[in-house]
Order: sequence, then structure tokens, then C-alpha cells
Amino acid sequence: MKTLMIKVDSDNPDPSKIQTAADILRNGGLVAFPTETVYGLGANALNSEAVLRLFEAKKRPLDNPAIVHIAEAADVYLLVAEVPKKAELLMKEFWPGPLTLLFKRSEKVPSASVAGLDTIAIRMPNHKVALALIRQSQRPIAAPSANLAGKPSPTTAQHVYEDLNGRIDAILDSGATNIGVESTVVDLSRDPPMLLRPGGTPFEALKKVLSDLRLHPFVEAEQELPPEKARSPGMRHKHYAPKAAVILVGGDIEAVTAKIVELTETYRAKGTKVAVLATDETQTRYQADVVKSLGSRFNLAVVAQNLFRLLREVDAEGVDVILAEGVPSEGLGLAVMNRLRKASGYHIIKA
Ligand code: TXA
Ligand code: MG
Repeated sequence: MKTLMIKVDSDNPDPSKIQTAADILRNGGLVAFPTETVYGLGANALNSEAVLRLFEAKKRPLDNPAIVHIAEAADVYLLVAEVPKKAELLMKEFWPGPLTLLFKRSEKVPSASVAGLDTIAIRMPNHKVALALIRQSQRPIAAPSANLAGKPSPTTAQHVYEDLNGRIDAILDSGATNIGVESTVVDLSRDPPMLLRPGGTPFEALKKVLSDLRLHPFVEAEQELPPEKARSPGMRHKHYAPKAAVILVGGDIEAVTAKIVELTETYRAKGTKVAVLATDETQTRYQADVVKSLGSRFNLAVVAQNLFRLLREVDAEGVDVILAEGVPSEGLGLAVMNRLRKASGYHIIKA
């Protein structure tokens, strides 16, 4: 299969280019497109065959359903069995935006689209290209992140191309995404509501609207928890794993820096090639084979923006070990730490 690359202006998308992609979706094809979080790989959510092709292209396990993307908040009512009051509050405040809500699903949604579950995850992205594509295809669009299963999510069209060239019909290229980590997932199919995956919408902001919102224990887990405790299939699957072994070093920043310096020396003495994922404030302290800064520790939104790109970049340097500095778990830091813990396979050192 030849994968078509279509450049589209993110502020002013050309409707004829969007129509080319929308026609592919309407015909059961697969199109990768930008959202404000990461690139998604889209298929018509109401076409089971298209959704199955999507799973095959990503090599994604069939038990892990995709998020369904819509362009009008009102379209939720067509896909779900009921919209709780608390969901309406969140939709009003945070849509369009990086927030995915879990509802009890309508019978009209094909079982394949939700991996046989009785719930459906829905979001309305805040990106002109994504919204135009959904509108012009006149379908709800199932879209997981557009990476091969287990790889870091793509924040550029180039990342999508590296993983999926020859496996999908087209990629809409609008440059780098703004937020850099995926949407926050909140389960409203039960009460009290529970945050299942931290992401682009901070927990603190959600709590201001829903004071009884809780964090699922998986969000901050520092070791693998029993899979039967997972409320979302994505919690059980291996994620964000580069080829190199990732070690996350957490704690007070002075102690973290000292520990990483020590580990770097030990590894390099053995001939192991080491990369450090540092921050602006600490990067000059390290003498590793590769040192990259995620950004300032005082601007966690920028750290989130850079995270997946830098995981891909250091991996491309062919290092054996990646030592990653922990950051504070506030704002977007909660999502960054969750992704780093998963990328490390819970190989976490407390400095
Ligand atoms: O920002 C994002 O959310 C991106 C962009 C493309 O929108 N999408 C994304 O999709 O990250 P994906 O498929 O990589 O992650 C979806 C997460 C997975 O952890 C999945 O298990 C969970 O949402 N999920 C989807 N449907 C679910 C359901 N019915 N019940 C529980 N969890 C569900
Ligand atoms: Mg994903």
C-alpha cells in the first residue's frame, strides 16, 4: 500500500485536501491526522471492518478499544446510552479539548469499535484539521494514537511515517502537535467518576468542576498492579517502550542529579552506552553519551510537549540505557511521570 502524505495548514486547512482524506475514511480506509495532543490513526467508527484494519495496521491487541472522535458535542447523544449530569459539566467546560470521557455505550455502536465492552470512550479534539476531517467525513472517527503498538505516541507526521508507512492510506501533516501527551481519560460510566489516564487536561482543573473525582490507583502506581484491577485495557498493555532500557530516577532534584551522575559512571565503565533525559536546570551536569533536555522543570507543559519526541530521538542514537529524571507530579507533570513509569517498565529508582 502506498501511503499518501498530505500537507495541511493547521490554522487554515484547505477543504479540498481534507475532502481527499474524508473520502478515504468514508470508503473504509485509514487516515492519520493531527490533534492537539498527538497524531491519531482514524477509521470510520461505525464500520467494523475499517476498525479491524486499523488494529491490524497498528499491530494493536484487539482487546484495547480506540477513542471515538466527534466534531459536535451533541453527537455524544447518538453514541451513548446515557449522558450523566457530571459528564455534561465536563463537556461544557473542557470540550473541544484533551479530555476523553467514558460512557455506557449505545447498541448502535458496533461491538468491534469498543472491543466488546459495554462502554465507549469519546472526545472532541481541539484542532482545526481534526475537526474539519470529522465534519467532512460525516462519521464518528475511531482513532488511537498513530504509532505502532508499544511505541511512544507520534507528535509529528514524520513519527507516523516511521511507524506506519505502507500500512495506512494517508497522513495529514500539519507539523508538531501542541500538547505532546494524550488526552486525560475520565470514567463517567460509574459513580464516583474516576480518572483512568492522566493527560492534557490536568487533574487539578477537573477537580475544580467535579470535586468527587478520584485518581485510579494505576495512574501513580510504581509497580505493575494485578491486571484484574485495570478499569481500562490500556492500563494493562506495555507502552511507550523504546528499544533501550529506561530507568526513571525520582526524588529531590539534587539527589536525582547525583544518582544519575553515579549511574552514568558505573554504566560507562562497563562500556554501556548511556543517554540522559535531563531538564534545562540540570543538563550541564551530565557526562553521558547523549544528553537531551526535556525543558525547564518550571514549565511542565513544555516537558510534556518534548517527551515522546525525545524518547524517539535518544532511541535512534542506539543507546543501551536511558536514565530519565523524574519531575513534579503537578499539572501536566502527572501525565509525564505516568508515561515515564510505563516506559521504564516500572524500573524506578528513588534517589
Ligand atoms: O489524545 C488522545 O487521546 C489520542 C488522540 C489521537 O486523540 N488518542 C489516544 O488513543 O491516545 P489510544 O487508543 O492510544 O488510547 C486510548 C485509551 C487506551 O488506554 C484505552 O484502553 C482507553 O483509552 N479506552 C478506550 N476505550 C475504552 C473503554 N471503552 N473503556 C475503557 N478504556 C477505554
Ligand atoms: Mg496509544
